[in-house]
Amino acid sequence: MDFANENDRLGLRDVLAFYAQAGVDDALVEEPINRFAASEAPPTPAARQPDVAKAAAPEPRTGEQASPLAFAAPRPPVAVPDEGQIAIARQRAATAATLDELRQQMAEFEGCNLKFTAKNLVFADGNPRADIMLVGEAPGRDEDLEGLPFVGRSGQLLDRILAAIGLDRQSVYIANVIPWRPPGNRTPTPQETEICRPFIERQIELANPKVLVTLGGPSAKTLLHTTEGVMRLRGNWKAHVTASGVTIPAMPTLHPAYLLRNPAHKKFAWRDFLEVKAKLKTLT
Ligand code: URA
Repeated sequence: MDFANENDRLGLRDVLAFYAQAGVDDALVEEPINRFAASEAPPTPAARQPDVAKAAAPEPRTGEQASPLAFAAPRPPVAVPDEGQIAIARQRAATAATLDELRQQMAEFEGCNLKFTAKNLVFADGNPRADIMLVGEAPGRDEDLEGLPFVGRSGQLLDRILAAIGLDRQSVYIANVIPWRPPGNRTPTPQETEICRPFIERQIELANPKVLVTLGGPSAKTLLHTTEGVMRLRGNWKAHVTASGVTIPAMPTLHPAYLLRNPAHKKFAWRDFLEVKAKLKTLT
């Protein structure tokens, strides 16, 4: 790209730095789109559609043909989060008799708008028959690209934590409350969490681990039905009760991403995982 002057180049650098800080780290299309030119053009029939549908409509993915006219192109079905979608998610989750069926049900579910901006469904990693199941909040960029949970920096720290107590990916089962990356890694809305809740709850029920470990506050709040902060929760055994009434001991602990930012708190996670290890000995 040619720059008429040094100021343009520096301006662009500042804008890109601002985007990176704001979490805008993914190009959706190959070529820039002049949205100002698009808004000056006469409205297309699609542009006259109700605002809600437009707001929830997915952006084109990297590599797809895109131009201002893309606004007029037919779009895949649009999901607007609502109570109905929670009921559909619940029904789909209950229908799944195995983890493979659950993955299939989730892949076919169109009721969560996060799916339309994510590149992949991030279902699980590890051993579904493991004694320990770990549940995080939502995939980040690396997880979205690979379709696997905890493969980025926090995943690497998680691997080191597991190794410290003699475990690895094949001796645990790992999933997230939200299986699609929220755009720009934003916090999932309460409604998105409620739409995804039936899936993670069924995933836990089908995996039926001996011990559940919630990673970070959002996972603890969702799966343990509490509003207490993770700092107060962590280190204390709680219970996760499945839809069929099975009680699974649950240990809330700190999220690896938090530990990367607050390394002095790794000692707490270390204690929590030692508790988990001790608990497993009493259960086997
Ligand atoms: N953080 C999470 O909560 N889950 C992931 O899979 C990655 C980062």
